[in-house]
Amino acid sequence: MTEIIPDELHPARIIELCGEGRFGTTMIFLRSVDSTNIVAASMAAGLPEGSIILAGRQTAGRGRKGRDWYSSTDGSLVLSIILKPQSDPVTLTALLALSVVEAIEAEAPEVAVDIKWPNDIYSGGRKLAGILAERSGENVVLGIGLDVNDDAGDFPPEISKSAVSMKILAGRSFDRGLLLVSLLRFFEKNYMRWENEGFSIFRFDLENRLLWKGMEVSLDSGSEVVTGSLEGLTDEGFVRISSDGRERIFSSGDLTLTGRADSSGNGG
Ligand code: BTN
Repeated sequence: MTEIIPDELHPARIIELCGEGRFGTTMIFLRSVDSTNIVAASMAAGLPEGSIILAGRQTAGRGRKGRDWYSSTDGSLVLSIILKPQSDPVTLTALLALSVVEAIEAEAPEVAVDIKWPNDIYSGGRKLAGILAERSGENVVLGIGLDVNDDAGDFPPEISKSAVSMKILAGRSFDRGLLLVSLLRFFEKNYMRWENEGFSIFRFDLENRLLWKGMEVSLDSGSEVVTGSLEGLTDEGFVRISSDGRERIFSSGDLTLTGRADSSGNGG
């Protein structure tokens, strides 16, 4: 069966647009996969750092904590990046979230975006993108699902109120290839700085875009639920919550705005 690759996402085009960079020089497009993260993990050992697995559609897209990730065939951008970091990779999710936001700000300045710690991109209270980081031996796979040209009717009913696309927000369509190249350029630049200077230099830029900063939130860490004011992040990318007069720091967990049920819907 012939693979039909959308022109905008054709690997030859993306590789040419990426130029001499470290990321995106190896690009594999698969029309239909279970999950790009699964494929990337199985191929990571034999591919160079910065290789991209890009899919037209996923039949079993995965979100955090075993949740499902829905993506539409012609609207979403779904891909995984293979990395071989020399340092502790725990902050890479936040680094990629910042890079996704920077790419959206560059390509769609009319779309206001925030980072919902630790791995989601939100706009106007609705989820626009999610990131899933997974280890595969020495390698790290960073998967991104970004709703680009989805129409409201493309989302399944259970996430139709909580999910949103760039097209719905901006009232125009986007070239997913140009958006992908922009994302890879921002991420490559940030990744090289992260390798040389560490994570703490990104704290300010992340905090500036942190959803619900200064507001009353609840954090479910898995072992307890803490309610308090979302103060920001630490130099390690952990979240700081001021609760009952003391600062609490968490390396993982699910945030919700106090008094609201979690409506993250797609993924986690
Ligand atoms: C989340 O919000 O919980 C994370 C969602 C991550 C979705 C992306 S789509 C590409 C990659 N492949 C997957 O199966 N998941 C990630």
